[in-house]
Amino acid sequence: MKAVVLAGGFGTRLRPLSCTRPKLLFPICNKPLLDWTLERLAKSGTNEVVLAVNYMAETITQHYGDSTHGMRLFHSREEKPLGTAGPIKKAEELIGHEEPFLVLNGDILTDFDYSKLMKKHTEKRATATIALRRVKDPSRYGIAELTEKNRVIRFVEKPPREKAPSNLANAGIYVLEPEIFDYIPNGRPVSIERDVFPKLANERKLYGYDFEGLWTDIGKPEDYLKANKLLFDAQIKKSQVGKSVRVKSGVEIKDSTVIGDRVFIGEKSKVGPYATIGERTILGKKVHVQNSIIFPGVVISNFTSIKGAIIGEEAAIGSHVKIGDGCMIGDHAVIRDNVVLSQGVTVCPSRKVSENVLTPRCLM
Ligand code: GDD
Ligand code: MG
Repeated sequence: MKAVVLAGGFGTRLRPLSCTRPKLLFPICNKPLLDWTLERLAKSGTNEVVLAVNYMAETITQHYGDSTHGMRLFHSREEKPLGTAGPIKKAEELIGHEEPFLVLNGDILTDFDYSKLMKKHTEKRATATIALRRVKDPSRYGIAELTEKNRVIRFVEKPPREKAPSNLANAGIYVLEPEIFDYIPNGRPVSIERDVFPKLANERKLYGYDFEGLWTDIGKPEDYLKANKLLFDAQIKKSQVGKSVRVKSGVEIKDSTVIGDRVFIGEKSKVGPYATIGERTILGKKVHVQNSIIFPGVVISNFTSIKGAIIGEEAAIGSHVKIGDGCMIGDHAVIRDNVVLSQGVTVCPSRKVSENVLTPRCLM
């Protein structure tokens, strides 16, 4: 099986952390999202993967090289973003015309068995088959209306809630026939959701199947935090402590915690539940980290509490600091002693903060 992973996109809603890394390299339980996806592709019987990259392409290319998990990797780099269908057309030669292939939105975390969708697809002789998920808020997704026999009669991208024809959302996982290349013009941005799927639905060539199990995208900070929780509960299950971790006396490591290699945890600190601590991070005395993601190499000083927040690589957090409620701290930022940040405040990379900020703002 061959697969294309859409790995471009700017990750705008995850700024400032996406200013310094592509969304697909965001760690989930200390491993980049794209690693989880590639692992799953290999398990589903894929042997060749095209990574369609543009934003920060070189970071992804360097990170993965030309093979992983026993699969060959090709990097298809766009000079300008080509949307969600343009990159598929660009990969036409790499994919060839022999057999149907998989396409994945790279920002999805799932435990879906892709080979099952391939099987459904071949049964119906469709041009495209999409995996669907029941969702609460259809306005954030592409929505499909199905017949009893799973044919998509209508596909609408991000309809207003009251106009949504169903709550069956495009899960960002497709099987496509090579015939799809005829539907995508060359060399310009094309949206598979707005330009291609509605047309295929009209021509009765689009099918969809809903599934259950682990599935979430990491579009927004709260989704990203949730993705870590879901993955933990679904797959990891028991707290993990990496190699060469030093833990002082009186430390409590609670359930649902993942601690990377070479982390230091000072006296009487509490870690978890739902904390991911990146490698080389140093926590001082009586630090409390809960429901948060700490990237590698962060220093958090004594008596500080981090709850429901994301802290970027090598940030330095002072003592008696409180960071909460969806705050995102950019890489190498410095938060001085006694500062309180809450309500989704974001701090740009390398910014130094010495004042309390309690209303949603971006500190540039
Ligand atoms: N190579 C490349 N080039 N990839 C891109 C580009 C581009 O120009 N633009 C977006 N992507 C990638 C993103 O990185 C992401 O993995 C995927 O394409 C989808 O783009 P998003 O920007 O994340 O779209 P969305 O989340 O608003 O909506 C999409 O996903 C939903 C499921 O999460 C749509 O496919 C919806 O229909 C779907 O329901
Ligand atoms: Mg998305």
